[in-house]
Amino acid sequence: MKLSVPKGTKDILSNEMKKYRQIENIFSDVCNNYGYGEITTPVFEFTELFQRGVGETTDVVSKEMYTFLDKGKRSLTLRPEGTAGVVRSYINNGMASLPQPVKLFYMEKMYRYENVQKGRYREFTQIGLEAFGSNNAVIDVEVISLVNVFFEKLGISDLKLMINSIGCKTCRGEYNIKLTEYYKDYIDGLCSDCKVRYTKNPLRLLDCKVDNCQKVASNAPVFIDNLCEECKDDFTLVKQGLENLSIDFTINKTLVRGLDYYTKTVFEFVSDNVGTQGTICAGGRYDNLVELLGGKETPGIGFAMGVERILMELESRDINMVNEVFPKLYIATLGDNAYSFASKLTYELRKQNIFVDIDVTGRSLKAQMKNANKKNARYAIVLGDDEITSNKCKIKNMATGYEEEIFVDDISKTIIENKA
Ligand code: HAM
Repeated sequence: MKLSVPKGTKDILSNEMKKYRQIENIFSDVCNNYGYGEITTPVFEFTELFQRGVGETTDVVSKEMYTFLDKGKRSLTLRPEGTAGVVRSYINNGMASLPQPVKLFYMEKMYRYENVQKGRYREFTQIGLEAFGSNNAVIDVEVISLVNVFFEKLGISDLKLMINSIGCKTCRGEYNIKLTEYYKDYIDGLCSDCKVRYTKNPLRLLDCKVDNCQKVASNAPVFIDNLCEECKDDFTLVKQGLENLSIDFTINKTLVRGLDYYTKTVFEFVSDNVGTQGTICAGGRYDNLVELLGGKETPGIGFAMGVERILMELESRDINMVNEVFPKLYIATLGDNAYSFASKLTYELRKQNIFVDIDVTGRSLKAQMKNANKKNARYAIVLGDDEITSNKCKIKNMATGYEEEIFVDDISKTIIENKA
């Protein structure tokens, strides 16, 4: 029986893989320019990390985690997102003692048991970053500006940026009271998840996807009208900072994000081109998370974006990120002697960083030349015993058909100096 890949996963074949690499390269260049270093954390972590970090009542933790017991009966989970692992690493590796802010970026696979649809997969790739140690709102602006620079480099700088503030420890308590007060009259009509959220984590009520719950949420008091003075001031600074950089934004008063760790600034970059999953990039501040996971009180901010959604966005705009690279030289050979000479030559040229192709399947000379054409090689050379003995061969420009005689000993030089 032929096996297929599990639902929500896919093979990424080489043409597609080039696009992933290109996006990752651009992202890593932008991050380097902003002073971020790369980090990789394990694909699986103790389940408790996500339960505590992301929050028990979030959809991600309560419904979507790939959790299993290993042979030592430890509960492990494939990471559903990157922030919790990076925070754990910040704590475990004593990064609090480094000069702050500590700025880290990552490009990794994530795993969520989701209802699969366009733009929503069970295995997907996130590029993202986290910055620790600054509670100044200027870093919020800097992080958002980085996303903008990245999108500009991709040619999609017109995505819609939405921002909101969901307060801090001080104002969250009071807001929760207002929220539960409002929801009191609607409890019976809420879905079973929201009934739990009502008592355990009222803010999550605003994030429910069920129609009726969304209707109730649409008239609920909004956080932005209930911020404490400090949060209000910080939000003003974020808005001013974005205006200063001429970065357009919309205040979305109902934006709360689906993960529990957020405080103060939250933001999303959205598009109409990726189906119902319009969010390409999402993030925000998380000033309590390091402490919640056992570290010292340390503010943090970050975001992540789905590479698959970026690719969909690029495709919908006909933007091709990848310049195809073709062989500079194809060496066709006739006979064992010529092959062994050509294989040495190929090896030397490849060491010099030159893309050379040579047949390794035993094709006929005619088939080799056909192959050179198919592969879009710039030049082709035929080497047989006669050429080796006479030290003379013909180099053919495959685009024009022009042939020139050169010394076999000069092949390397001609190709390296592009003289043919
Ligand atoms: P998130 O909103 O869960 O946030 O995911 C961020 C982005 O990952 C989404 O906007 C989307 O582009 C992509 N994404 C999420 N789920 C899927 C999926 N099932 N299939 C395809 N793409 C998906 C986080 O993960 C936070 N850790 C972001 C963050 C970092 N906040 C602070 N720091």
